[in-house]
Amino acid sequence: MSMPERRPRTVVLTGATSGIGAATAAMLATRADVLVLHGPEQPEKVADQLRELRHPGGAEIRYVSCDFTRLDAVVAASSAIRDAAPDGIDLLINDAGVPGARERTMTPDGFERTLQVNALAPALLTRLLVPSLTHGARIVNVGSSAHRVERFHFDDIDLARDYSPIAAYARAKLAMVTWSSLLAEEEAGTGTTVVALCPGVNDTPLSAAMMGGIGGPPERGAERVLYAAAAVVPSGSYLENDRVVQPSDEVGGRQNREQLAALYRARLRPYAQGGRR
Ligand SMILES: NC(=O)c1ccc[n+]([C@@H]2O[C@H](COP(=O)([O-])OP(=O)(O)OC[C@H]3O[C@@H](n4cnc5c(N)ncnc54)[C@H](OP(=O)(O)O)[C@@H]3O)[C@@H](O)[C@H]2O)c1
Repeated sequence: MSMPERRPRTVVLTGATSGIGAATAAMLATRADVLVLHGPEQPEKVADQLRELRHPGGAEIRYVSCDFTRLDAVVAASSAIRDAAPDGIDLLINDAGVPGARERTMTPDGFERTLQVNALAPALLTRLLVPSLTHGARIVNVGSSAHRVERFHFDDIDLARDYSPIAAYARAKLAMVTWSSLLAEEEAGTGTTVVALCPGVNDTPLSAAMMGGIGGPPERGAERVLYAAAAVVPSGSYLENDRVVQPSDEVGGRQNREQLAALYRARLRPYAQGGRR
């Protein structure tokens, strides 16, 4: 696969401490100028990984720790990221994610954990970082083709009635893919491109937890993420196998989009004051 040429100067990558994110970080370490990596671990726990990413002439590596199960921590992380990227952000990759937990779990913020980590927290972080994007920046949202297997249940968005790990994950990814498309609409005319993708099936801790150890190496997923980061495609595109495809019909439904936008507004507004909107 040939990679389109587009050298990002400052890149922010969430979920960089494992799986596809770690493989993406390794590739970006020789391609970006400043690489701001995120993970839930404290910096001392990832010191070895960060050391390996530092090469003479390679990207300057910075690290911001944040557990997405706490939205106040996401707000704090957004300001640490802004400090780590003082010249602005050319590329923001929202990769962090969790499989559905075996048992339904609520966060301290009062939201179902899979939805919060995979969908609400990335949306909040993005909202808070939008003012720091440079002109012509790109936002890449790592979704999943798993979004196709579920529908929206706005009357049970936190899965109080029908919890299963797969349903929680698939609904969270449906929210993420739909939000990505809504974000592209919001950003129209600003110069920012928003792209969502499925990175394919990759053998990572997340996929092992949900499906057992199947799929290709995480580097394959990382190549797909970086393809989405550079591909010449319309803002709002959703990619599978490096091709723009239609996401599930649920994503385009007008009522779904309005209800999801209202849900995000209600849940994130208390934390989103620092963002542009
Ligand atoms: N693997 C696949 O086949 C596949 C398929 C489709 C989509 N995806 C998507 O690809 C992305 C990367 O997944 P992966 O397979 O590479 O999984 P992974 O190896 O488990 O990596 C997930 C990343 O998210 C971080 N994370 C976990 N819990 C977090 C929390 N509470 N707060 C903040 N960050 C947290 C992880 O940190 P730790 O260092 O603690 O693990 C890690 O850096 C996810 O969005 C996933 O849904 C994966």
